[in-house]
Amino acid sequence: MQDYKTVESSQTTLTELMIPSYSNFGGKIHGGIILSLMDKVAYVCAAKHSDGYCITASIDVVDFLAPVEVGELVSLMASVNYVGKTSMIIGIKVISENVRTHVVKHTNTSYFTMVAIGEDHKPKQVPGLILKSQDDIRRFSQAKNRRELKATYKRDEASIKDEFNTAECLISLRDERCQIFQ
Ligand SMILES: CC(C)(COP(=O)(O)OP(=O)(O)OC[C@H]1O[C@@H](n2cnc3c(N)ncnc32)[C@H](O)[C@@H]1OP(=O)(O)O)[C@@H](O)C(=O)NCCC(=O)NCCS
Repeated sequence: MQDYKTVESSQTTLTELMIPSYSNFGGKIHGGIILSLMDKVAYVCAAKHSDGYCITASIDVVDFLAPVEVGELVSLMASVNYVGKTSMIIGIKVISENVRTHVVKHTNTSYFTMVAIGEDHKPKQVPGLILKSQDDIRRFSQAKNRRELKATYKRDEASIKDEFNTAECLISLRDERCQIFQ
């Protein structure tokens, strides 16, 4: 295994035609189809960087920015933004193109944390990342910050759960659109 690898060496683009069977009741492409393609391209990119089997540990926010129509070409561009010891954060940008008008929409951007798994089924170390451009450095640094923020958020979440107080909660829900029966 190489100690360090470039971002380009694992960059992956997946393009897929949106066929009618991918649509939902509203005639637009089902969000789950896009999610599945995102998971696939994240896997390929992570597997190329780590030279092996990977699993999805976490997905950092998927906002659907614009609907995707049947007949459009969806392209998913993935690259390794950050590597930890055994994990890789894969940044994915999704665009959708109308083949007749060539109008291109940006439909999603998301960050998948993939973990490399060794023969022993345990997380295994991945190669470091060679950062060659300003964009490589910016993405690495922003992903590192996001990872640290997430760790803080998880700790806060755990303490919120520990400190849960039903009486205070009921007061905070007074102006919400819910009915409480107990
Ligand atoms: C992901 C998984 C392997 C982590 O196992 P673990 O015993 O917690 O291993 P570790 O604590 O050593 O974590 C391994 C790495 O994953 C990262 N990680 C684990 N859970 C994470 C999460 N929820 N979000 C982001 N990163 C996570 C850790 O930070 C660590 O990164 P690093 O080595 O780069 O510092 C384990 O939770 C798992 O198998 N989950 C199920 C995955 C799955 O079924 N996915 C869907 C199908 S592919």
